[in-house]
Amino acid sequence: MDIHKLQEIVHKTRDARRKQTLPKYAPAERDTLIKKYHPDFRESAYRPIAFGPNAGEKTVRELAALLEGNSVVPMDLDLTPQHACDVLVVGGGGAGCAAALHAQAQGAKVILATKLRLGDSNTVMAQGGMQIAVTNEDSPVTHFLDTLKGGHMKNDHDLLKVMVEEGPSIAKWLLSLGVLFDRDADGNLHVKKGGGSSKPRLLTASDYTGLEIMRVLKDEVLNQKIQLLEFSAAVELLSDGKGTCTGAVLRDLDNQRFFVVAAKTVILATGGIGRLHIQGFPTSNHFGATGDGLAMSYRMGAKLMHIDTFQYHPSGAVYPEQLIGALVTEGIRSEGGHLVNARGERFVNELDTRDVVSSSIIRECEEGRGIRTMSGRIGVWLDTPLLEAEQGEGTLNKHFPAMVRQYERFGINIAKDPVLIYPTLHYQNGGVKIDVNGESDVKNLFVAGEASGGLHGRNRLMGNSLLDLMVYGKRSGLTAAARAQSGSQGKLTMEHVMKFKDEAKKHHVSADVISPMLFPAYAKKE
Ligand code: FUM
Repeated sequence: MDIHKLQEIVHKTRDARRKQTLPKYAPAERDTLIKKYHPDFRESAYRPIAFGPNAGEKTVRELAALLEGNSVVPMDLDLTPQHACDVLVVGGGGAGCAAALHAQAQGAKVILATKLRLGDSNTVMAQGGMQIAVTNEDSPVTHFLDTLKGGHMKNDHDLLKVMVEEGPSIAKWLLSLGVLFDRDADGNLHVKKGGGSSKPRLLTASDYTGLEIMRVLKDEVLNQKIQLLEFSAAVELLSDGKGTCTGAVLRDLDNQRFFVVAAKTVILATGGIGRLHIQGFPTSNHFGATGDGLAMSYRMGAKLMHIDTFQYHPSGAVYPEQLIGALVTEGIRSEGGHLVNARGERFVNELDTRDVVSSSIIRECEEGRGIRTMSGRIGVWLDTPLLEAEQGEGTLNKHFPAMVRQYERFGINIAKDPVLIYPTLHYQNGGVKIDVNGESDVKNLFVAGEASGGLHGRNRLMGNSLLDLMVYGKRSGLTAAARAQSGSQGKLTMEHVMKFKDEAKKHHVSADVISPMLFPAYAKKE
């Protein structure tokens, strides 16, 4: 049926839905729901990793293949460095910029390398906000407890404690640099509530919070004259032959040549893995989110954690085709937007944690209460016009200008028509295991932001990634700079890569899968 005809049911059922009682799940029922419908529990999508620091642990097939992958670098490459520095930061998103700025402020010589342009990252695409306990009604302790509950109590307590406690100082830093967070009529910071949080604590810049933060961070990186290597993809880490990280091999994407950066310390801020499209899911992630840091650090011996759990954001666009997988911010549900099935009913508390909301959407679709598009995709409605009906005409344009424009480009007016959504691959809950200074199991190798793991447990709360990447970008930058100042440059070898190749052979792993992959396979066709 034509999508516009199907949308009518959402308009017609609005009054009935306002009176509807929503399901309240007891803890055991939540677990049952998640185990039955959440993609993390699809056994056939997983397999054990054959060798390396996480040998025998299960992860999704796509990630297992990436981790076991073969190096693209010829083993006889001349490792004479073209560049040398104290701190090499790999990644030009929020974590990378924060790390580079804090390291350089300590007097370290910093190089920031990124495979695309400075700022091309998931950070720039973050919409809904940044959780920081800044109000009198809130506290870092409450933030800690909310996050722990959302993460199924599996979060690393030390990492989490540091993050929530340092939140207020991060807010001050960003404000001092010029980030324009939303404010109320009295000029105080305006905070919103995110799913799974007991207090409003999201600092926002409409629905382009990440873009606003990156605007300022990028500017600051340029102002501070940090040495930048754009379109330079890190493809291998270097070691001193005794397990300490000493630099990296990069590839100049303009001419495909390899070159070497000698660095006393390396910070990987390479982001997530959405573009692996695990289990065939579309993604909200940027083009370069291919888990490069995971592959490189795994080869060097860094242990990963929680790599069996991923976040499928409940509201990814399903229609029109041009927007498949794009994020429709949780902020719309925070402001009261209903999720509606084909029968015109609500079926979940829209502000429950993301794993519960996504599982409920998948359940509705699998049990025949989803809405099918003409191209055969399936989803449920997000009643966006409800916000206009309840809060007045112009509400969406005022609070969600980016979302309004995202749909307007394709002739869709979300103030009049509800949008069709389905879970989209959004975030890797786990990543490289780090300590409270961002250091991995490999000496002098630091990891910050989405590439690191442990802090979010098995389900991240909305707005915690922007804070995570600022706090651990800062801490890794400070520690790496201090370490570099007291140490000397080690030898540059690829001995660990050769050992890894031998292991792969022993385990009969094909040498044909190259990692890091840098861009999704379809990029070549495009
Ligand atoms: O829905 C959102 O705006 C996403 C936010 C987040 O993942 O933190």
